[in-house]
Amino acid sequence: MILVAATSSDGVLDHGRGCPWQVPEEYAGFLEQIRGETVILGRHSFEAYGRDLTSRFAIVLSRTARSIPGVQIARSLDQAIRFGEMLGHRVYTVGSASVYPCALPLADRLLLSTVREPRVACARFPRIDAARWRVRREADRRRFVVRVYERAG
Ligand SMILES: NC(=O)c1ccc[n+]([C@@H]2O[C@H](COP(=O)([O-])OP(=O)(O)OC[C@H]3O[C@@H](n4cnc5c(N)ncnc54)[C@H](OP(=O)(O)O)[C@@H]3O)[C@@H](O)[C@H]2O)c1
Repeated sequence: MILVAATSSDGVLDHGRGCPWQVPEEYAGFLEQIRGETVILGRHSFEAYGRDLTSRFAIVLSRTARSIPGVQIARSLDQAIRFGEMLGHRVYTVGSASVYPCALPLADRLLLSTVREPRVACARFPRIDAARWRVRREADRRRFVVRVYERAG
């Protein structure tokens, strides 16, 4: 499973009032990455922007929802990853704050964009342990940098 997230330069994911920055090029790169693939996301993120994604399948994490038209519901991240692997596409976990801490230990790769703007935090991305993750690729853009991390060793 590949974990995808965007943060501000100080690790902020969300400030509780929609996306904390407007960097269309960064979001376009994200949409291109998940095009035709399977995404896993929390129910709040799905309700915020899940219908506008370019992925082929969405698996929504929820302990409460009975059904949501057009998506598969999973009661846990393990179950979501199993569903995703059965679909035979790449599986991306795309958010958000309540999901990333459980997704980080299960991810094979991290795809993290860092927008060059500090923000006031509502939710932060978990700390990345430098002993466990190595940057394999880095693309430096004007307003953000994208890093691909793979597990060390
Ligand atoms: N910066 C980024 O990269 C990024 C990415 C995505 C989203 N966001 C932003 O983050 C905000 C939403 O984040 P959020 O943390 O409030 O919500 P969220 O993680 O998208 O959704 C939370 C909900 O997902 C379900 N859930 C979470 N973990 C679960 C688990 N392990 N098993 C089963 N269900 C689980 C629960 O749904 P039930 O209540 O139904 O049980 C929970 O209430 C939005 O504003 C969005 O724009 C930022």
